[in-house]
Amino acid sequence: MSRPDENPSGQIQFGVFFQGVNFSTIWTEPESGSQTDFESFRRLAQTAERGLFAAFFLGEGLRLREHLGRLHDLDVVGRPDALTQLAALAAVTDRIGLVATQNTTYNDPVDLAHRLQSLDVLSGGRAAWNVVTTDNAWTGENFRRGGYLDHADRYVHAQRVVDTARAVWDSWDVEEGIRPVERDLGHYSVRGSARLPRGPQEHPVLFQAGDSDEGRDFAARSADVIFSAHGGFEDARAFAADIRRRVVAAGRPDDDVKIFPGQQFVLAETDAEAAEKARWVAEHQVTPATALAFLENVWGTSLQDYDPDGPLPDIDPVVEVTGSTRGTAFAGQKARDTAAAWRAQASEKGLSIREFVIEASRRQGGIVGGYQTVADLLVRYAQERVVDGFNIVPWLIPSGIDDIVNHLVPELQERGVYPTEYRGRTLREHLGLRAPLTRRALAPDAVSRSFDLV
Ligand SMILES: Cc1cc2nc3c(=O)[nH]c(=O)nc-3n(C[C@H](O)[C@H](O)[C@H](O)COP(=O)(O)O)c2cc1C
Repeated sequence: MSRPDENPSGQIQFGVFFQGVNFSTIWTEPESGSQTDFESFRRLAQTAERGLFAAFFLGEGLRLREHLGRLHDLDVVGRPDALTQLAALAAVTDRIGLVATQNTTYNDPVDLAHRLQSLDVLSGGRAAWNVVTTDNAWTGENFRRGGYLDHADRYVHAQRVVDTARAVWDSWDVEEGIRPVERDLGHYSVRGSARLPRGPQEHPVLFQAGDSDEGRDFAARSADVIFSAHGGFEDARAFAADIRRRVVAAGRPDDDVKIFPGQQFVLAETDAEAAEKARWVAEHQVTPATALAFLENVWGTSLQDYDPDGPLPDIDPVVEVTGSTRGTAFAGQKARDTAAAWRAQASEKGLSIREFVIEASRRQGGIVGGYQTVADLLVRYAQERVVDGFNIVPWLIPSGIDDIVNHLVPELQERGVYPTEYRGRTLREHLGLRAPLTRRALAPDAVSRSFDLV
C-alpha cells in the first residue's frame, strides 16, 4: 500500500474513456472500430496500459436514448454491460484500472457491492466504481421500482447505497468472522454481507461524476476520484479550489480526492498541423443528422425537413425553455433567445446549419496543439495542481490514443510529470490513494455523518 507522502500531486495521469454510444467518436473512417466488438476494447485497453494509463473507464447508459420520439441512430449499435466488459478486459490486461459507471438509484447495494468486489478480486485489485445517480425518470421506467427519486433525494440515497456497499465490503473479518449488515435505506431495507474476502486494494476505488452542489459535496465526503466536466485551465482551477474546500470541510486532507476531467486531445507534430486536424475532426464528428439533432434540442421540434447545408430555420422554437431529450442532458436555456443568437451568428458568418454546429463543437474541441506545446501546457496543469489527470475521450476508436501513448507520454515523462512505471499492483496504489475511508482511523466522521443526512 502506498504512503500518503508518495501521493503524486504535481503529476499528471491518464485514463481513457470508452464512451460507447456518442456523437464525438468518428465511426466512418477506415480505421474506425466497433462499439461492441471485443477487439476494439482489447486494442484500446492494451495501448493505454502500454502508456501506463491509470484507468480504462466505461460510462453507463441504461436505456437507448430517444430524441423527439426517434431513437438516437448511434445508440442502435448497442453497448455491452460494463462489468461484463471489464471482466473480459481483466483477462487481457495486467495493471490498468477498470472503472465501471454504476448508478445508485436503480442498483441494490448488497448485490452491486458483490459484483464490484468480484471484479476487484478477479482483477487483482484493479476495479473502480464510478458512482452516478442518473437523473431521469425515463431511465427508471426500465426498472422494477420505476422512475422514482427527485434530484434532491438522489444524493441522499446515493450516500446510503455507498455506505451500505462499504459496510458489506467491511463485513468480512478474518479474525472475528462475518458481521451481517442491516441498513434501512428509506425506500427499502437490506440485510446481507460480503460473499468474498476483500481483494488487495481492500475496496474498489470510488469515482464520482455529477456536478451539482449535492454531487460535489457527496464526492468530497466519499469519493477517491472525481470525473469532472471541467477540463479547460481556468475552469479546472476554479473547480479544484471548490472541491478542495469541500474536501477539507468534510474532514479530509485536501489532496484526498483526485480530479480527472474528461478531455479530448487533438495532437500533431506542430501546432499548425494540430489546428488543421482539429478542423477535420470536428467536420467528421458532426454528421448532417447530428447537426439537425443539435438544433432540434433548442427548437423543440423536428427539423428533419431542413437542409443541413442550408441556413438555420427561420421559424421560432416551439418551446420556451430547451428541454432535455430523453437521455441527453441539455441546458435549460431560453429557447427563443438562443435560436435568435445562433441565427444572427450564422448569417453574419454565412454558415450553413452543419457549418454552424461544426464551429460550435470546435469551440469545445478540447486541447489542441503540437506534442511539445501540449506537454508544456500539461506541466502547468500539474504544477499548479489544477488537475490530477485527464480522462481522455478519444475521437477515434480503437487507435485514438496511439499518438498520446507514442508521443505525448514520453514528452511528459521527460518533463518529470508523468509516471515512468506502474506504482504497485493495484489501482489504489497507482493513483497514490490512501486506504479506503472506512479502513483508516482518519476522519471516521466523513463516513458516519452520511447517515445523518436524512
Ligand atoms: C463527466 C460526467 C460523466 C457522467 N457519466 C454518466 C454515465 O456514464 N451514466 C450516467 O447515467 N450518468 C452519468 N453522469 C450523470 C451523473 O451521474 C448525474 O446523474 C447527473 O450529472 C446529474 O447529477 P448532478 O445534478 O449532480 O450533475 C455523468 C456526469 C458527469 C458530470
